[in-house]
Amino acid sequence: MRNDPACYGKLHALVQAVSEDIPRPERFTPVSFEQWSAFEMKSPNLVPQGYMIAKDGDKYVGMSTVWKAQKDPKGLYQGLTGVLRDYRGRGIAVALKLKVIEFARNKYEKLKTWNDSTNAPMLGINVKLGFKREVGWITLEKSLA
Ligand SMILES: CC(C)(COP(=O)(O)OP(=O)(O)OC[C@H]1O[C@@H](n2cnc3c(N)ncnc32)[C@H](O)[C@@H]1OP(=O)(O)O)[C@@H](O)C(=O)NCCC(=O)NCCS
Repeated sequence: MRNDPACYGKLHALVQAVSEDIPRPERFTPVSFEQWSAFEMKSPNLVPQGYMIAKDGDKYVGMSTVWKAQKDPKGLYQGLTGVLRDYRGRGIAVALKLKVIEFARNKYEKLKTWNDSTNAPMLGINVKLGFKREVGWITLEKSLA
């Protein structure tokens, strides 16, 4: 943040680009810079030291982040992990998540995360890193048309 005043715009663009590829029941809706900034960068749950960014030169190519939870001071919530399409399959997501775990290790007791059941790459990475599977969530929809 000190070294690169353009960091917020670059991070917003990266988050939008990778979010588009997250498997989800509904179509992806982009989030404006103002909305993202208000909800994420100004969130009281933001942990800047745990916000890992992979760079290729000045370009932001991947990120993985965690959030604090007021109700659970010993736990951290793993937020989005994402890598730009051209950079996938090179171990960048695993490296970013290892940095998050390293950051969390002596300060917190657990990391918790949620994945879509069809997100094979992310589930594969999480299992490889030792996350234990808990109960599944089922999304249901009733069409009223
Ligand atoms: C998920 C994502 C972050 C992976 O990034 P990446 O940098 O390509 O991942 P890595 O190269 O570090 O890891 C590859 C690992 O993915 C796993 N993997 C990839 N494809 C897989 C598949 N089809 N089935 C199971 N595991 C798979 C493997 O564990 C692989 O490890 P290996 O190298 O030992 O085979 C990337 O695909 C992405 O940005 N997706 C869109 C955003 C998203 O869905 N994020 C998760 C929601 S929070």
